[in-house]
Amino acid sequence: MIISSAADYREAARRKLPPFLFHYIDGGAYSEYTLRRNVEDLSLLALRQRVLGHVGEVDISATLLGEKASMPVAIAPVGLAGMCARRGEVQAARAAEKKGVPFTLSTVSVCPIEEVQGQVQKPIWFQLYVLKDRGFMRNALERAWAAGIRTLIFTVDMPVPGARYRDAHSGMSGPNGPLRRVLQAMTHPAWALDVGLLGKPHDLGNISTYRGTPTNLADYIGWLATNFDPSIGWSDLQWIRDFWKGPMVIKGILDPEDAREAVRFGADGLIVSNHGGRQLDGVLSSARALPAIADAVKGDISILADSGIRSGLDVVRMLAQGADGVLIGRAYAYALATAGQAGVENLLDIFAKEMKVAMTLTGARNLSEISADSLVQELGKPVLREG
Ligand code: GLV
Repeated sequence: MIISSAADYREAARRKLPPFLFHYIDGGAYSEYTLRRNVEDLSLLALRQRVLGHVGEVDISATLLGEKASMPVAIAPVGLAGMCARRGEVQAARAAEKKGVPFTLSTVSVCPIEEVQGQVQKPIWFQLYVLKDRGFMRNALERAWAAGIRTLIFTVDMPVPGARYRDAHSGMSGPNGPLRRVLQAMTHPAWALDVGLLGKPHDLGNISTYRGTPTNLADYIGWLATNFDPSIGWSDLQWIRDFWKGPMVIKGILDPEDAREAVRFGADGLIVSNHGGRQLDGVLSSARALPAIADAVKGDISILADSGIRSGLDVVRMLAQGADGVLIGRAYAYALATAGQAGVENLLDIFAKEMKVAMTLTGARNLSEISADSLVQELGKPVLREG
């Protein structure tokens, strides 16, 4: 199939992956309203076309949390990315390094920290959840630091998991899950060979390393459901701030008050995110939540955003709404599932080209020239801003 966009990768991934995995990545919580709004609200942001402005060559290079990057895009943490392709997190981290953007490893990755960091030169970023087992958290932080990782993405929007109805229907969870997953693998032979057979161990690598015993996919569901800690508050995170000497980024901010808390807490960055619409359905899209947050804390903290970004045009839109950079999750997972490392490299090239076109036609020569003025108020419609 011909691939020219993230949407094409989604379609290719839909064909290649067993449904339980495709829907795990593609789906969101409850009726998936927020998942759709993330994408739709971005597309509603009208770019302001400007012509003949002597733009010339545009420069999309960026600094993300003090790190030079080829563009203002990082790879987001995605649980089980290593089930999309053989040792998938390693392939994606290699692609990110080759293309000059940061890669974030999820706590619930298949490949453990050491395996991924051992295959690339530059330090990756590591994502951690708030978990009941503080021993695991400390162990993960120590291992990440020892491996040379310096940027910690701390996810705070998962004190309880949002219900993903698709998972129950797809065989990811629900009745006869294990049997259904085996049957799906049999009807998706390319995946079954690449990942099912040659991509073992199918472990939650970071957790099994800690426990000293293998984990499996069935454990994943149970582990997520039983290990998140809803009782946590900012003060409970102080030990992590004290422990972690590198940049610490709070992921899952959707409200200006929480953004101010993140600044008071001493975070180096925040990520405006609704977890890709996978947590509380019905909350604001990231694109809409962003301007009020930027108004509240811009200049005090790095502002990144995710949720709904499917193209380089969307990256420019998020920057125009006030972000310093973005993370991409689903888009990269689709590319990884389709063509492994080469797929992720190609996707990043596509994003870079799309960004350059959007910047040229909005008259921005570099990222500092992208602003609210890069968007235009459509006739009769307000620019999407809260507050
Ligand atoms: C994990 O964070 C997920 O969204 O599935």
